[in-house]
Amino acid sequence: MEKIQEGMVIPRHVALILDGNGRWAKKRGLPRTMGHKEGCVTVEKTVEIAARMGIEYLTVYGFSTENWKRSAEEVGALMQLFRYYMVRLLKIASANNVRVRMIGDRSRFEKDIIEGINRLESETKENTGLTFVIAVNYGGRDEITRAAKKLAADCAAGGMQADEVTEEVVASYLDTAGMPDPDLLIRTSGEIRLSNYLLWQLAYTEIYVTDCLWPDFNKEELEKAILAYNKRDRRFGGAR
Ligand code: IPE
Ligand code: IPE
Ligand code: MG
Repeated sequence: MEKIQEGMVIPRHVALILDGNGRWAKKRGLPRTMGHKEGCVTVEKTVEIAARMGIEYLTVYGFSTENWKRSAEEVGALMQLFRYYMVRLLKIASANNVRVRMIGDRSRFEKDIIEGINRLESETKENTGLTFVIAVNYGGRDEITRAAKKLAADCAAGGMQADEVTEEVVASYLDTAGMPDPDLLIRTSGEIRLSNYLLWQLAYTEIYVTDCLWPDFNKEELEKAILAYNKRDRRFGGAR
């Protein structure tokens, strides 16, 4: 396999749609929950790998606004895993100088989960290495809708005039305010769709889809994606 070499560009911001936990479990005759459990281990490992590679931002889609439609059993199991991995993540973040940030509407979670998220963010906020962003109860449309509501309220309160609303202003109302847009989007498990992920932010992101199921994702898979990224001819709508 071709290797990452000196001179190659490490994308500053990698966004990930981790998909295929269910299929991974099914292939092994296991319950879906086991796929999610294994998927959490892969998230932990990926955070460490990305931090060592010098990626500045890693944004992972963990639970979408649509995922509440899954069975109560699966949603319940995901919440339990989330509780457990938040504690582990605190250790991993501290050991790897990682700053954790959550995007999405956390208000829908139970109180202890909200407290866990707040704690993870506040206890890692001084870390200067990788920023690990977890998208939970996240949906691009929901994010834009919440931003629009807040913006409309600020305009109504006299804080801003409608003609002062620029792209920069809109971006500053999104959950990702202050973050650069993703350079590379990786989706595992072969589906070629965005599933309501970072709709505003992915405007000019390079997209890489692999058939690898999320629990099987590893350093080699990440390197393959970065190599493919280095072969892309990035354009932002301009001529060459
Ligand atoms: C991704 O794996 C994890 C979540 C969406 C929480 P899936 O659960 O979507 O796995 P598949 O797509 O059914 O294989
Ligand atoms: C996307 O995966 C959401 C997350 C990874 C959290 P889904 O499995 O929910 O998306 P669809 O249903 O394949 O579009
Ligand atoms: Mg899926």
